[in-house]
Amino acid sequence: MPIRSMDELPLQGNKVFVRVDFNVPLKNGVIQDDTRIRAALPTLRRILEVGGAVVLASHLGRPKGGPDPAFSLAPVAERLGELLGFSVFQAPEVVGPKAAELANALEPGEVLLLENVRFEPGETKNDPDLGGRLAALADLYVNDAFGAAHRAHASTAGMAAYFRPDHKAAGYLLLRELEALRRVLESPEKPFAAVLGGAKVSDKIAVVENLLGKADRLLVGGGMAFTFLAAQGVEIGDSLLEADRIDVARETLGKARACGSEILLPLDHVIAREPAEGAEVRTTEGTAIPKGWKGLDIGPRTRDAFANALADARTVVWNGPMGVFEVPAFAEGTFAVARAVAAAPGFTVVGGGDSVSAVKKSGVADRIGHVSTGGGASLEFLEGKVLPGIAALE
Ligand code: 3PG
Repeated sequence: MPIRSMDELPLQGNKVFVRVDFNVPLKNGVIQDDTRIRAALPTLRRILEVGGAVVLASHLGRPKGGPDPAFSLAPVAERLGELLGFSVFQAPEVVGPKAAELANALEPGEVLLLENVRFEPGETKNDPDLGGRLAALADLYVNDAFGAAHRAHASTAGMAAYFRPDHKAAGYLLLRELEALRRVLESPEKPFAAVLGGAKVSDKIAVVENLLGKADRLLVGGGMAFTFLAAQGVEIGDSLLEADRIDVARETLGKARACGSEILLPLDHVIAREPAEGAEVRTTEGTAIPKGWKGLDIGPRTRDAFANALADARTVVWNGPMGVFEVPAFAEGTFAVARAVAAAPGFTVVGGGDSVSAVKKSGVADRIGHVSTGGGASLEFLEGKVLPGIAALE
């Protein structure tokens, strides 16, 4: 069943529980990137302008064993208030008498932010009792937490069962994310190129498998490329290798050939003995890496080859860095891919923390069709999995 948009809900005069993903990076209580808060604003503004009230919930980090001030949503409440232009009320708890009292007193046009939902141990266990107590705080349920849609938790999935089908729906951000990812997976304009990187082949193999036969080209970089290269018998020195995945990688290369998806692997590498700034850095001539050295970024020939493979692409999806992107000496390959994705003539989607950070740092984010707010969620979607947060609305 297709999911409802929040536009179909009777928002006016009702209290709307909105689950968002405000899991923002914090350093000493200071928000480092407020993209996820900004991304929820259209949903919140719409509910408020039509006369609804918002009970807002999110997780932040992975607190263990109950409330922990280091994971409080207080800095988020403050930033949200600045962005909305008025203060939001803050509950000192997730559920309980104080949260209930504040939710009851909420007037149309007002926002109450509950404390970090993961302060309740039942949240990550998808405890039905917690789901019921959360649901009791509002009349309607809107899920706009795309970044947490792959979690079957009480606030992302379980609590939806307590609302009638016509009282629960997706928020604008969730709908936008789904539209972009579905466009890539279900009706990609050809040629369709997927760029995959990141450290581990085990994290991405399900995506590669799901894209075989759909994508015309799969460009593989980052640590995960070395297991594929090893499967081809290439000498990879001391580069990252998942020895127990070599057979899977070999099979995947065979399947790709059989179904007409071309897998492009690195042709050269930027190498060092350690992934540290200041280490001696070399560029290889070809694919082989000498013993004692590690491949830490794609080399210039690979960057050109990947840019060529993207130059006529009508659909591009990118997830995962091409090297040890956090160390500037090994970041150029990822930046080059960011520019090449932005330059592609078709519809482009970028997901995953490092790739999103690379498009932002290289100043090309506004040339990307859709920059996803979900890392794990976008990856699981690309794997072809059903996301519990979305299934709960169907
Ligand atoms: C994310 O940052 O990917 C989401 O907020 C999910 O967070 P989690 O991996 O802690 O569930």
